[in-house]
Amino acid sequence: MKAPTKSIFLTVVILGFVILTIALTFFTDFEYMTLISKSSYGSYKKIQVTAAPPPAGSAAAVPRLAYLIAGSKGQLESLWRTVLAVYHPRNQYVLHIDLDSAVTERMELIQRVEKHPLFSSVGNVHVVKRSNMVTYRGPTMVANTLHACAILLNISKDWDWFINLSAADYPLVSQDDILKMFSKVDRNMNFVEHSSNLGWKEWDRGNPLMIDPGLYSNRKADVFFTTEKRELPSQFKLFTGSAWMGLTREFVEYCILGIDNLPRTLLMYYTNFVSSPEGYFQTVICNSPEFNSTVVNNDLHYISWPDPPQQHPAPILTQQFDVLLASGAPFARKFSSGTRVLDMIDSQLLGRSNGSVTPGGWCAGVPACSRVGNISSLQLTRGFRRIKKKVRILMKERGENMCI
Ligand SMILES: *[C@@H]1O[C@H](CO)[C@@H](O)[C@H](O)[C@H]1NC(C)=O
Ligand SMILES: *[C@@H]1O[C@H](CO)[C@@H](O)[C@H](O)[C@H]1NC(C)=O
Ligand SMILES: *[C@@H]1O[C@H](CO)[C@@H](O)[C@H](O)[C@H]1NC(C)=O
Ligand SMILES: *[C@@H]1O[C@H](CO)[C@@H](O)[C@H](O)[C@H]1NC(C)=O
Ligand SMILES: *[C@@H]1O[C@H](CO)[C@@H](O)[C@H](O)[C@H]1NC(C)=O
Repeated sequence: MKAPTKSIFLTVVILGFVILTIALTFFTDFEYMTLISKSSYGSYKKIQVTAAPPPAGSAAAVPRLAYLIAGSKGQLESLWRTVLAVYHPRNQYVLHIDLDSAVTERMELIQRVEKHPLFSSVGNVHVVKRSNMVTYRGPTMVANTLHACAILLNISKDWDWFINLSAADYPLVSQDDILKMFSKVDRNMNFVEHSSNLGWKEWDRGNPLMIDPGLYSNRKADVFFTTEKRELPSQFKLFTGSAWMGLTREFVEYCILGIDNLPRTLLMYYTNFVSSPEGYFQTVICNSPEFNSTVVNNDLHYISWPDPPQQHPAPILTQQFDVLLASGAPFARKFSSGTRVLDMIDSQLLGRSNGSVTPGGWCAGVPACSRVGNISSLQLTRGFRRIKKKVRILMKERGENMCI
């Protein structure tokens, strides 16, 4: 080839390449972009960033909540008290007492629910009859939460948020207040407290490999560690945070039924991770482009951590009553069984009397709340102002605190 011919040939090749590239960019669709983009696992659905609540007065204006309330051996009485305190006929409740407890304790719970005139007539309180073995700090805790999510999806088609509580949790406002608060929040907001700044958790949680005997053994035993360690992941970014959350139905469906594989991959990764309940949902939501803009960095709880922080939160004492109120949180933990603070919350905040449910606008019949009246009628307590103020601040600062 002569020199000019050669340069013409080269120009044609380069031009062809450029045209092909432009054409490709024009004609390829999102699927192609998904295939080449490393960060995406294939989107299954685009989630609207803000989904305004339905107009006031419409049937759906007041949301419905789905609760998991879980306890372990010896916690029947605390669990029952929490159930009564958060009860509302609009909601769904799944109760779980872990397999380590006595059969009689679990039977007692089932019978109490069956014999409770209100619970049995409304039919919205369910006990997990085939209990799971749950190991503190182990993946069996997340598995148990996912099990409850699956049951709740199956029980009812119309709930808006999933909230997990334990027997040592207690509400600081009435359920009417909480429903009213949620009625003002965009319907696709997920309350997941999180941070990607792992700090000491990097070597304490991210590197060790742990085995949870609760996955395969009939006897309860603590988690144990392998001598080998692993590196931090490079396929996704780790997030850590609180084990307490409020998840939208859409996000729960994504985790349980979704065709995207990320929730499953991460579940397997977290099998060997210490305290996976403090990271699983955080890491799933912040690594999912469909959901990462729906996160509110808060866990809806006031948790009293000892200073310096330890593995367990400190039990809340009567002296902390004002701090509880100032927090603006709808829930708090943890409370020792039968503590006087709970009596103060019952009488001063919930208006709940011993052995009965928290009163609300739905209450009818004699004695009070023995029948269900209008379940859309909400009767707010003074506590509503506290949580409304708090949630307003959260929503305002949401953007700066998302997946950081
Ligand atoms: C719940 O599960 C049962 C049995 O698999 C099924 O027939 C039913 O349609 C499910 N309900 C919902 C709301 O998914
Ligand atoms: C959900 O609630 C249970 C209550 O027993 C708690 O122990 C667990 O860690 C929570 N979080 C997750 C993500 O499972
Ligand atoms: C959500 O994910 C997308 C795609 O990976 C990314 O561009 C965006 O910055 C993420 N948003 C947040 C708030 O992390
Ligand atoms: C509440 O009821 C329980 C059992 O029904 C009883 O043991 C307890 O003493 C009662 N407490 C008050 C303050 O009445
Ligand atoms: C129930 O309460 C809601 C809210 O207060 C009200 O709009 C509705 O009309 C009530 N329904 C009935 C049947 O009274």
